[in-house]
Amino acid sequence: MSKSYELWVKKMHAKPSMPNYSNYSDRPEYSSCDNSMRSENFQENCSGESDDCIQSDCLETNDIKIKKTTINDMKIKENVIQKSIQTKEKKMKTKEKIVMENFQEFVKSNTLSELRSNLAKIEFPFKKYATTMVFSDGNSESPLMLIGEAPGQEEDKQGKPFVGESGKLLESMLNAAKIYRKNYYITNIVPWRPPENRAPTTEEIKIMRPYILNHIEIINPKIVILIGSTSYKAVMNQVKAITTVRGEFIDHNNRLYIPIFHPSYLLRSPSKKKDMWRDMLSIKNKIKELNLDILE
Ligand code: URA
Repeated sequence: MSKSYELWVKKMHAKPSMPNYSNYSDRPEYSSCDNSMRSENFQENCSGESDDCIQSDCLETNDIKIKKTTINDMKIKENVIQKSIQTKEKKMKTKEKIVMENFQEFVKSNTLSELRSNLAKIEFPFKKYATTMVFSDGNSESPLMLIGEAPGQEEDKQGKPFVGESGKLLESMLNAAKIYRKNYYITNIVPWRPPENRAPTTEEIKIMRPYILNHIEIINPKIVILIGSTSYKAVMNQVKAITTVRGEFIDHNNRLYIPIFHPSYLLRSPSKKKDMWRDMLSIKNKIKELNLDILE
């Protein structure tokens, strides 16, 4: 057996080795040389003078064929996987878009009862985790409306806004300024308790914005108290820190808006209660100035 024949047999039976390239383009098969170039090269390089030359050309062509078939198979599989991922992503995006678009269309209500029943039908990312929808409490005829962030555990249990620990603190401060719940209307940006009491995300707040603006329109108050940063940012569509804007009335679309600290922040930082008290007095004075007949 000639040496070149031995070599040929060995090569024919050898498994094609598959180097682990990260990109197809890194592979020599996909870099610069295609079949036609190779055969040209072979023709050029091979003078046909020796067995070695002819046989090694054949071997190399065969080897490449096997590799290319495997690589093509892999490429097809990869394309199929890629396409299925893209389809899934597209479906998810469409679903999110539908939820948002439906929401914006859906909540355009003219009355409070319409708004409430429309809201109850809506899809919302964490609605399924909440026990109940906490819509509102107080007097819907009042010229004073208060807007918080989202229900907590106690609110979720009772179905009313601001009835937990922070709610009680807020109420006691309002009461001290002679402002009582039966004389104001109170609600939240999000009517469902977020899972694990987390804050609603920017995206979730964005979804709820048309709803809360619609809610304000229906109640048509003279003064709106924005309780905490989330409420301020959602309603005013602003990014300023609550510390810089609290206690100042903002005249917007023929209504006065006043951002205040959230009572749960006061529970953590009791030294800020004096700022809150100042804001309560400003609100009381404004109610008097506007002759709103809601102080006891
Ligand atoms: N915090 C809020 O923002 N709203 C509630 O209803 C209770 C706590």
